[in-house]
Amino acid sequence: HESALDYLPGRGGLPALRRAAADCRGCALYADATQTVFGAGPADARTVLVGEQPGDQEDRQGKPFVGPAGGLLRRALAEVGIDENQVYFTNAVKHFKFAPVVDARKRRIHKTPNLREITACRPWLAAELSRIDPELVVALGATAGKALFGGSFRVSEVRGTLLPLPDLSNWDIPAEEGAAQEAGANDHRFLATVHPSAVLRAKNRDEAYRGLLSDLRMAARFLG
Ligand code: URA
Ligand code: SF4
Repeated sequence: HESALDYLPGRGGLPALRRAAADCRGCALYADATQTVFGAGPADARTVLVGEQPGDQEDRQGKPFVGPAGGLLRRALAEVGIDENQVYFTNAVKHFKFAPVVDARKRRIHKTPNLREITACRPWLAAELSRIDPELVVALGATAGKALFGGSFRVSEVRGTLLPLPDLSNWDIPAEEGAAQEAGANDHRFLATVHPSAVLRAKNRDEAYRGLLSDLRMAARFLG
């Protein structure tokens, strides 16, 4: 396995990407997971939310953010006034990485993807962003931030601040003409916040949730 690049279709919109991603073997993670969990949402979404990777529920159902973290995220979006039906949800890594053990609730234990896996899967994320060309990309946690900004990205240093979206044309991917090239030059924005799973795991869950809300309010204000 080299990367998802070998599986990326040269043309076509999100449906073509989704079909191709179903057969991706760009890294070893396809082997143990149930299925590719591609992004979901409107192709003309103004906002793309990028998570880490599918969790146990997402792996079974084939859709992003349908488990406990997704529930918390959707509640937070509603609270700040962002309509989840107008958001495109996706993940930095499209296959579930887990340890061969289950927890007390029979859920497989999630393992954080490494930089090699993030890099291998990045062409899918880049292709999604080039097709959708969103005004705002929100990274949920460090993995999403690393996929966009590289391995030294730290959520704590930039969370809650609207930043220019990196120029996707540097990503060495066969993006469709135009959209990707313009992304860095216009007023498209990037916002980082914590991952909803980190809120669920936090010692002080209320405080962590308030932090997520406060970051997402920046997104809501930008969207107007
Ligand atoms: N966590 C993620 O990062 N993505 C999902 O889709 C679900 C949980
Ligand atoms: Fe392909 Fe990404 Fe799955 Fe690896 S994790 S096999 S690169 S879709």
